[in-house]
Amino acid sequence: MDKQSVHGMWSSRTAFILAAAGSAVGLGNIWRFPYLASDNGGGAFVLVYLACIALIGLPILFAEVLIGRHGRQSPINTLLSLARETGHSRAWSVIGMMGMLSAILILSFYSVVAGWTLHYGWLYLAQLFGGAGIEDGPATFGGLLGDPKTLLFWHSVFMVLTIGVVALGVEKGLERAVKLLMPALFLMLILLVIYGVRTGHFGAAVEFLFTPDFSKIDENVVLAALGQAFFSLSLGLAGMMAYGAYLPRDVSIPQAGVSIALMDTGVALLAGLAIFPIVFAFNLDPAGGGPGLIFTVLPMAFSDMWGGALYGLAFFLLLMFAAWTSSISLLEPPTAYLVERTPLTRRSASILAGVLVWAIGLLSLLGFNVWSEVRIGGRDLQGAIEFVASDVMLPLGGLLVSLYAGWVLDAKLTRKELPQLSDGLYTAWRWSVRVVAPLLVLFVLSQKFAG
Ligand code: TRP
Repeated sequence: MDKQSVHGMWSSRTAFILAAAGSAVGLGNIWRFPYLASDNGGGAFVLVYLACIALIGLPILFAEVLIGRHGRQSPINTLLSLARETGHSRAWSVIGMMGMLSAILILSFYSVVAGWTLHYGWLYLAQLFGGAGIEDGPATFGGLLGDPKTLLFWHSVFMVLTIGVVALGVEKGLERAVKLLMPALFLMLILLVIYGVRTGHFGAAVEFLFTPDFSKIDENVVLAALGQAFFSLSLGLAGMMAYGAYLPRDVSIPQAGVSIALMDTGVALLAGLAIFPIVFAFNLDPAGGGPGLIFTVLPMAFSDMWGGALYGLAFFLLLMFAAWTSSISLLEPPTAYLVERTPLTRRSASILAGVLVWAIGLLSLLGFNVWSEVRIGGRDLQGAIEFVASDVMLPLGGLLVSLYAGWVLDAKLTRKELPQLSDGLYTAWRWSVRVVAPLLVLFVLSQKFAG
């Protein structure tokens, strides 16, 4: 008999795909991907990233969703109930525990960056009403980072928005938010790509992104690409497991998974093709853009375009929405866990989890100004939290999910969740979660940390 989730269910296959794609497509695609490509040698990074998506991301995506759908609870309780059902060790619920911790850490800086997009949207709105607009991209961005009060204001606004949607629950909150906004963002990116084509620097951007210079590939580039594959597909912290819990039984996980991965990768590549032509058009150095890349580069295009303030406003607002549909998927696992484990209502649980995240976000936020001297492994506070959570904890979480789905869960159980795959494809999937994905992840991590 199929279990039902106490948190509600997605109303349809499309609803799940939209929500999962809404989770996947976010700052990771438009803020993080271009800046990592810029910092890690362009084409070399992009190539390794695409390989990580196909060889590691996709099989683990199937694994997370199918485990979630089978258990129908928050990740930790899903793993505990599977332990009861199949007799394996309860220790596997550490995947859910670690995942919750990664989700909290990632959302803490994610919300600060989403706050930047809100601030930029606000600046362009002000410009429409006669304000000064953004003339000097780097100066405006530097000024924002140096201003803890403004950062705090927008970080808080964004966390309130996130808590608000999660408090409303699966169908009323999460689902409705994604339906309109994702297509609008897509359209906006295409417009920017067209702008890039017309400035004449599109060719340079294509060359930068798609001509790999193999001499640039080292353990740092590979680890960054692996971390980004997990980050962008929302994998490794059992978030897709949490969303899978609300997925109706008749939906094909492989089909949905492939659509999600294609959309996600497509948006990242589009973002790259939108941003790098501008980098070249304005004679900027494509290498080492850092986390400020889109916030310094895009305003240059907007101030050059006719009606740029309106574009700027639309772009940063849509980016904020993309961040929003991702951030709710980061707050969902801790919230669902609190609902199951404590007498708290969904509303109070989401507030409690959200306030915790907000408070941890202060570390990143103050690291840009008051604590800008603090360096951890050469990184500022935000960079250090981003690195540990995204590039270390997510791959480790993914490794555990992969081993769990491949070795602990019975083939009968996983086969039943993937009936649409042919026998050959099912076997390929099973060996990729048993051997290929875990070995690749271990290899990358050991290159970086054991050497
Ligand atoms: N994938 C999102 C983005 O690209 C961020 C995100 C949402 C995430 N949920 C996640 C990352 C779960 C890792 C795990 O912006």
